[in-house]
Amino acid sequence: MPPEEFRRFAHEAADWITEYLATLEHRPVFPDMRPGDLEGALPGHAPEHGEPMERVLEDFRELVVPALTHWNHPAFFGYYSITASGPGILGELLAAALNVNAMVWRSAPAATELEDVTMDWLRILLGLPDGFEGVINDTASSSSLYALAAAREVAYPEAHASGLFGSAPGRIYASDQAHSSIEKAVLTLGLGQDGYRAVASDAEFRMDVDALRQAVEEDMAAGVKPVAIVATAGTTSSASIDPTTAIADVAEEFGVWLHVDAAYGGPASIVPECRPLLAGWERADSIVVNPHKWLFTPIDCSALYCRRPETLVRAFSIVPEYLTSREQSEARSLMDYGVSLGRRFRALKLWFVLRYFGREGIVERIREHMRLARVLEASVRASESWVVVAPVHLGLVTLRYAPSGIGVEDLDAMNLRIMERVNQSGGAFLTHTALDGRTVLRVAIGNLKTREEHVARVWRLLEEAARAEHPRVADFE
Ligand SMILES: Cc1ncc(COP(=O)(O)O)c(C=O)c1O
Repeated sequence: MPPEEFRRFAHEAADWITEYLATLEHRPVFPDMRPGDLEGALPGHAPEHGEPMERVLEDFRELVVPALTHWNHPAFFGYYSITASGPGILGELLAAALNVNAMVWRSAPAATELEDVTMDWLRILLGLPDGFEGVINDTASSSSLYALAAAREVAYPEAHASGLFGSAPGRIYASDQAHSSIEKAVLTLGLGQDGYRAVASDAEFRMDVDALRQAVEEDMAAGVKPVAIVATAGTTSSASIDPTTAIADVAEEFGVWLHVDAAYGGPASIVPECRPLLAGWERADSIVVNPHKWLFTPIDCSALYCRRPETLVRAFSIVPEYLTSREQSEARSLMDYGVSLGRRFRALKLWFVLRYFGREGIVERIREHMRLARVLEASVRASESWVVVAPVHLGLVTLRYAPSGIGVEDLDAMNLRIMERVNQSGGAFLTHTALDGRTVLRVAIGNLKTREEHVARVWRLLEEAARAEHPRVADFE
């Protein structure tokens, strides 16, 4: 693409992005389409001859954009809602243009050093002590896998050479509310499904530490080796926060690696009054925090902090001749910290975000999300027909339509239909989960453009959907 052509389309794309972000709230959050619609509208093979960029961009606007669920929409409340902020988008754009591959220092000196700097800035913002070394991965799933690989390295030092065959069985513990990525990591690490133990949680969906201790003791007595304990700070279903101090005591007593999955909840620690919620996480061996969840950084960006980085490196470092370099003893080779050799320049967008908002700006925005969550919580609590299912600590509200006189299974189905009605309306988007075996709706507040009116809108849509599903006598009067 000649420079003048690039300039023209880069300006066009920048204008389109600006307009898109400015008017996004007027679009439906969820597309009006069926699976296969977009595929059906596109040719089955790439063009034989190059096409003009105008046509490609036109198809992007006319075909791709209408088929999007808009995660950057202020009324997107599904999963954990996120933001690609302006500075984050600019960082991503520039990283794409630079196209450096941060395998070793020499392949990308700036990306390597900026990753050191941003990881350290973020560590300080989070209030973590300076023994933690940070590295950026694509997702929390990768970060937790790598952390648990390091834990396995400690539990089975001999396995590095000879594999796990013939070793005593090992186990990784997490609460029954932990994210599925932990169990996936256990499977990937060759510990098998039996290598994962879901520890019961209490009435507020936090790990029951007595049950954890009992599980570890039972396993040790039976010759099963505890490999790691995973505490979650901000579980996926309810944003509950495990009692990390008490869990750290157990990990310390039995000499087991402690990993904290703070993929969602971690950024709350930047807010001074929230820091006590995460107390104890500073005692972990490894921690994952996702800037792409609640820190305004475009997906993907996951920070893995490790207090034993040499163990992480031992688990992953293989340096063939073609990747050796003069500087390898002086500077980090980021390829040594995980499976992938190639690494995008993810630190750039995070550096832009941290600089643009500053600590104060981040604190203000996270606080606002928590305030909005409490506003919604108050509306739900004021209603006779709805219940708030889990305590609201962060930006997530879990709610269930539960008027009296309807059986629990019918209510489960009704809640799902209510959610579908809201999502199909295009006015807001939310997702569901199961808590205590019952269907629960989740409204996750985490987008920078979400204002009180969007929260009021999702609540109005929920109430309207509930009335449509369950007309009551009063509604006809
Ligand atoms: C607590 C928790 N951990 C891990 C993950 C996985 O995150 P990722 O998509 O970055 O792998 C999620 C996703 O929502 C999560 O809520």
